Amino acid sequence: STPSLLILPGDGIGPEGMGEVTKVIDWFGAKRDMPFDVSEDLVGGAAYDAHGTPLHDDTMAKAQEVDAVLLGAVGGPKYDNLDFSVKPERGLLRLRKEMDLFANLRPAQCFDALADFSSLKRDVVAGLDIMIVRELTSGVYFGEPRGIFEEGNERVGINTQRYTESEIARVARSAFELAMRRNKKVCSMEKANVMESGILWREVVTEVAKDYPEVELSHMYADAGVMQLCRWPKQFDVILTDNLFGDLLSDAAAMLTGSLGMLPSASLGAPMANGRPKALYEPVHGSAPDIAGQGKANPIACTLSFAMALRYSFDKGDEATRLEKAVEQVLADGKRTADLLGEEGVQPVSTSEMGDAIIAALDAS
Ligand code: NAI
Ligand code: MG
Repeated sequence: STPSLLILPGDGIGPEGMGEVTKVIDWFGAKRDMPFDVSEDLVGGAAYDAHGTPLHDDTMAKAQEVDAVLLGAVGGPKYDNLDFSVKPERGLLRLRKEMDLFANLRPAQCFDALADFSSLKRDVVAGLDIMIVRELTSGVYFGEPRGIFEEGNERVGINTQRYTESEIARVARSAFELAMRRNKKVCSMEKANVMESGILWREVVTEVAKDYPEVELSHMYADAGVMQLCRWPKQFDVILTDNLFGDLLSDAAAMLTGSLGMLPSASLGAPMANGRPKALYEPVHGSAPDIAGQGKANPIACTLSFAMALRYSFDKGDEATRLEKAVEQVLADGKRTADLLGEEGVQPVSTSEMGDAIIAALDAS
């Protein structure tokens, strides 16, 4: 049957980026005979304005049924003073929680045309293509007990790093499956030298690795991992790590590649009845209220998020590569949205001009 997609544009530049993605989806339907059953709904502040909640139950139910969800961004100053329970980000958190999206995939890819944009030297980042797999639903951000308690005559703040074997095993499996489609290397990062959960993490990952004899597994302490990531990131293929370390490592990796406007992500859960994983694809960036409504947003993060959907939800790796190559071509041709400027005398293109250029590059592919 026709694969189904739920688009949740959200707030700020979310709808601007998703508008360009819709052109790309239509292009694949028309030119590559890959129709999608697309529906669209509200999330975040937009949903709050319409329904008084950042995610309507009907939208949640729809998200559980479709093959993949594509989300723009949520939030904005208009909603900053809302009660915590109805804040826009609660809509996104509810999606992640109820879909049980335990594996967060953050690629750090550096297109040659943008290598001078990195905070590192060109030869360190040019052609970089690595993937960070971060555990997203457990660990120290969720472990109990947590809270601020009285102890003697002072207060103590407590969070608990807690991982079960099965939580480690399922995210490890996601990382090994990914590595099989890539360069067959997994580097697992924890702090087994000082943390019990790190010791268990290392043991379970080593167990899971036995099912993937073709994949080369290595282990690294997460602090050394940060150092290596900045020193020579091309040594990695897939980095597998927990929620806390993954938060830090993926933000550091983001800076290797330049603008926030370029970075896609995927969050995957358990396989559904049709064998596809539950999946939510979204750019790393937020709603960018400072540029919203001005046609300045870079649509590439959203576009590359759809490329990830093609690869990981729809098994269309070749078509995903086609789309990524189109983006690369447009950048090589010198097209830049305002966030990618920095050099002398280059005129920026608008959001829709960038989207149209990507379509033209697809046509030529
Ligand atoms: P942000 O990612 O929205 O913006 C940070 C800076 O990067 C801004 O200067 C923005 O103009 C620029 N930028 C981001 N994406 C861009 C793009 N595609 N093209 C060109 N420039 C881009 O983060 P910020 O400012 O901290 O948060 C703004 C709002 O977004 C807040 O309400 C925040 O809560 C929300 N947010 C939502 C996220 C989500 O929906 N997943 C993630 C992060 C923030
Ligand atoms: Mg972070």
